[in-house]
Amino acid sequence: MQAFRRRVAWRIASAALPLALLAAALSWLLVRAQDGVAAAALSAVAVVLLATLLCAGALYRFVLELSEEHRRKAQEVLESHISMMEALGRAIAKRDSDNGTHNFRVAWISAALGEAMGLTGSKMQELIAGAFLHDAGKIGIPDAILLKPGKLTPEEMAIMCSHVAMGEEIVTGAGWLEGGKAVVACHHEKWDGSGYPRQLAGEAIPLVARIFAIADVFDALCSRRPYKEPFPVELAMEILHQSAGTHFDPSLILEFTHLSKHIHATVMNASEDQARALMETMVRKHFAA
Ligand SMILES: [Fe+2]
Repeated sequence: MQAFRRRVAWRIASAALPLALLAAALSWLLVRAQDGVAAAALSAVAVVLLATLLCAGALYRFVLELSEEHRRKAQEVLESHISMMEALGRAIAKRDSDNGTHNFRVAWISAALGEAMGLTGSKMQELIAGAFLHDAGKIGIPDAILLKPGKLTPEEMAIMCSHVAMGEEIVTGAGWLEGGKAVVACHHEKWDGSGYPRQLAGEAIPLVARIFAIADVFDALCSRRPYKEPFPVELAMEILHQSAGTHFDPSLILEFTHLSKHIHATVMNASEDQARALMETMVRKHFAA
């Protein structure tokens, strides 16, 4: 805000200074003018210049007030984005009999890898929103299939896979949520083209979806599940490496390898509140107006 005030003041001062100098020159001419008509003309010009200078001063205050209002509104919009993203992510996770921690973790892990890959601005926003909303379509999957403890039949599996298309439908046209569409639509695609629903391969899969896929599987491997204990980070990375070039983008796996221990130590043992706090810091950093 201070920088903005200085910028506005400088702009107005640089516009007003020549006018002030001109007014001074006119005043000097006015004092020296012998002719009555010339004096009257100079007086009129001097009045106009004075009025312009006064307006510039008034404009400065007005622009600052507008700017403060804009900043406040932008902050409100940011807060509402964060709340909505959290609420939707939590609703989706609850549907899948999980708490919201998984969503906070995968969004934070995705963002950490995204930053390491040099993503900024709207790409980071797409990645974070997509990570929160990736399984939005599971809202439309019947409980008997979504929560079935045993193996799914081929027909049930086909219905389960339809959560991607349903997720796309949910976020399409939903304002800023649509930014997450690339991850929602492509989070089950695989580097070798064997994923679903479009069998995209290699770089045809959006980068944000390739990043998210690694975060999602790493989180699953390193988390406790009813049927398994958390894998140590070394074993999780060994499994990810085995799928580099088939499931995952090999260059992203290479980058993720450098980050994996730090990511594991930071987020994998975090409580729900700690994971939320980590994620909120990341969201504020990349969604700030
Ligand atoms: Fe999914």
